[in-house]
Amino acid sequence: MAYIYKAAVIGGGTMGGGIAQVVSHSGLPVIIKDISQDAVDKGIEAAREVYASRVKKGKMTQHEMDQKMALITGTTTYDDFDDVDLVIEAVTERMDVKKAVFAELDKVTPSSCILASNTSALSISELAASTGRPDKVIGMHFFNPAPVMKLVEVIPGLETSEDIINDVMDFTTSLRKLPIRVEECAGFLVNRLLMPFFNEAVYAAQEGAASMEVIDAAVTAAGMPMGPFFLADMLGVDICREVQHVLYEEYGLRMAPATLLERLFEARRFGKKNGAGFYVYNDASETFVAEQIAAVQAETGITGTPFSFDRLLLPMINEAAYALQEKVASPNDIDIAMMAGAGMADTSGPKGPLQIADEMGLDVVLAKLEGLHRVLGERFRPAPLIKRKVRAGHLGVKTGKGFKEYAASLETV
Ligand code: NAI
Repeated sequence: MAYIYKAAVIGGGTMGGGIAQVVSHSGLPVIIKDISQDAVDKGIEAAREVYASRVKKGKMTQHEMDQKMALITGTTTYDDFDDVDLVIEAVTERMDVKKAVFAELDKVTPSSCILASNTSALSISELAASTGRPDKVIGMHFFNPAPVMKLVEVIPGLETSEDIINDVMDFTTSLRKLPIRVEECAGFLVNRLLMPFFNEAVYAAQEGAASMEVIDAAVTAAGMPMGPFFLADMLGVDICREVQHVLYEEYGLRMAPATLLERLFEARRFGKKNGAGFYVYNDASETFVAEQIAAVQAETGITGTPFSFDRLLLPMINEAAYALQEKVASPNDIDIAMMAGAGMADTSGPKGPLQIADEMGLDVVLAKLEGLHRVLGERFRPAPLIKRKVRAGHLGVKTGKGFKEYAASLETV
């Protein structure tokens, strides 16, 4: 077990500032490094705001806040990196930028130092290859906002050692976060499963199956915390589109991005951050999305397809089956990650996609996927694992065995 006494975060942006706050809250000194003093200051300020709101709510005293803030230092150089034990990189999501940072870190940190990346979608193994210590490079994927979201996907690269994986899992727990080990794959776990749900919502809107408002309302009525269009506007339409492309490149047709998503991206309708996305938050055109929907329907001739909540849910369940088949994570971890990272729930409360599928019955899931496959095409081709389970009679809760196993009391075992 490696002891972690001092940490550093590279990049003081949206994620870096929050991650530094989380690390300092656990009692560890943490350096924020960025390329300009202004960016460093923003990162420190973001951490300060998190603490200040806790003081305001009476969750901590001003004195405690001052002590925690004293643990955070900012810099634009690597001067104090000769005794850091763990670095979390949270710079701009570009492979060339990140590789350069990893190569620098390899030179300025002690050889025992763990180098983690908060990348959402880039290859950990490729980053690791830009260092002389691929056994100590790992993904630590926090969710936004880092101080609030419990989940951290821990993603080993091809050469990451088991010791380092265990150290990072323990370290993440010490931050009062929930680490889930995820084998390296495009989109990791949560984005890989969430994006097909979102992309299908865009297809449904684009094809006139239902309006965005009706789709968002159907999703919240099903128990999820927010509708897909509202969520995309919050996360950033540009980021959703980028992740969808990464998934498309890796997994092929079932992840083909909906054309409407491209149209929004091309028009720079990035969501709340720049005033308009699927919905409008400033004086941008209120009719833009409707016009694009009409144009896409005219081009494709596809219109009036059916809408149901299942249409969105089943691609997520199907992708969860693919992930399970590839041993990306265990069934329980897949469900926990989706509950903690994406707020997955049904009307009875938090619930992961595999649990939902087991309760629905895997024979029913398969029949629904086959029906949608006939009408809507390749995105719904059932994952082989679902067919195998059904052939074996593992139909879910009703037979005691599905994706998970159930005792007679219906409890997950
Ligand atoms: P951001 O754009 O808010 O911040 C990036 C920061 O990195 C900026 O302050 C920039 O000045 C700094 N930077 C750029 N090059 C640098 C270098 N060579 N050395 C030091 N600092 C440098 O980006 P954000 O959103 O915080 O994302 C950072 C990482 O976290 C990305 O890999 C992203 O994919 C990932 N991520 C983002 C999430 C989000 O919701 N924003 C969620 C989870 C992960």
